[in-house]
Amino acid sequence: MTIAIHESALIRHFNTRKETLRAWEEKIGARFSPFRGFKMPDSRLYVEHPDFLDSIVDLIITNERHIFLRGPVGSGKSTLMLLALRDLPTLADRRGNKFITGYVGMTGLYEKQMSAAIADSLRIKYRRSWESSQIIEAVAQESVRRYIEEKSRTALFIEDVADNQEAAFHKLRYLADLPTEEMKDEYGTTLDEPVVTLVMSGTSMYWNAMLSFLPQIADRTEPLDVPPLNDDKAKEFIGRRLAYARGDIDKFDPDDFSIYPFHDDAIVVLNQASKGNPRDIRMLARGCQQVAAENYKRTGNPDVDVEIATLVATAYEYILKEVR
Ligand SMILES: Nc1ncnc2c1ncn2[C@@H]1O[C@H](COP(=O)(O)OP(=O)(O)OP(=O)(O)O)[C@@H](O)[C@H]1O
Ligand SMILES: [Mg+2]
Repeated sequence: MTIAIHESALIRHFNTRKETLRAWEEKIGARFSPFRGFKMPDSRLYVEHPDFLDSIVDLIITNERHIFLRGPVGSGKSTLMLLALRDLPTLADRRGNKFITGYVGMTGLYEKQMSAAIADSLRIKYRRSWESSQIIEAVAQESVRRYIEEKSRTALFIEDVADNQEAAFHKLRYLADLPTEEMKDEYGTTLDEPVVTLVMSGTSMYWNAMLSFLPQIADRTEPLDVPPLNDDKAKEFIGRRLAYARGDIDKFDPDDFSIYPFHDDAIVVLNQASKGNPRDIRMLARGCQQVAAENYKRTGNPDVDVEIATLVATAYEYILKEVR
């Protein structure tokens, strides 16, 4: 009996909370919570980092180094990869080569899974029955063929690269080292530069591990640190999400947008607490929504001011430290 009473009290509590949040959302003209997580985030929510994106793309184009996008969890590594993937197919390098891109987003892969995932991402055919070395050889041959016959280099994006099995790395290394000495002998000057550029992502801990365990790749890889959001970008991050929830995202103007009911100085507090990490800013903004919704219910004022932001940032400080 006691359990039933507790249960209903709990359900009532959650329902009231939901209604409170919903009332706040309605007040600010939102159709859903602006700070909910999306499985497939809409690219219209992305705050661009044009300079950083250019530096990634420039490195790929010059073809001197592989790339390791380095940053803490939630800093935007995957998002930047998607933006670079979007731009590359429209570009060419100084020799006039175009780009074919592949993206491996799964991790925890064994040798064969990695080989198959790479082949799939580059739309290269292989037989299920093949060994991983046969699959990777087919990828190598096709990448070289595309380079020579189609004047296309391959850019292969590998997420959280260190989360894969060690054996999978040797497959990556083989591609990273293409063309082989035999291929160079065979094709001469038509094949005198790397054919596959790797763009990998991971935390700095994994980068350090790669330096010690895979110096052969790491030595030829440029680590690039994902830039944190500055206050203006944090503001745009919030602004885009608010516009999205209002159904106004297509009219979003990065030079002139509203962050109502957020105050400017509240966003500065949130950005500082999250060290410019977009995932953490979203989490904090969600916390602010909850406090502001309770406040709105009591006072009729839906604002997220610096006081609310400070309260939430302080409460989350401990959690953010834990997950980092
Ligand atoms: N530039 C950005 N503009 C808008 N939202 C962003 C941006 N970068 C990241 N985000 C959002 O922040 C969250 C984390 O981003 P993302 O998944 O890209 O980070 P990550 O570094 O790949 O994280 P993980 O280490 O968990 O793989 C996502 O919800 C993403 O949509
Ligand atoms: Mg990621």
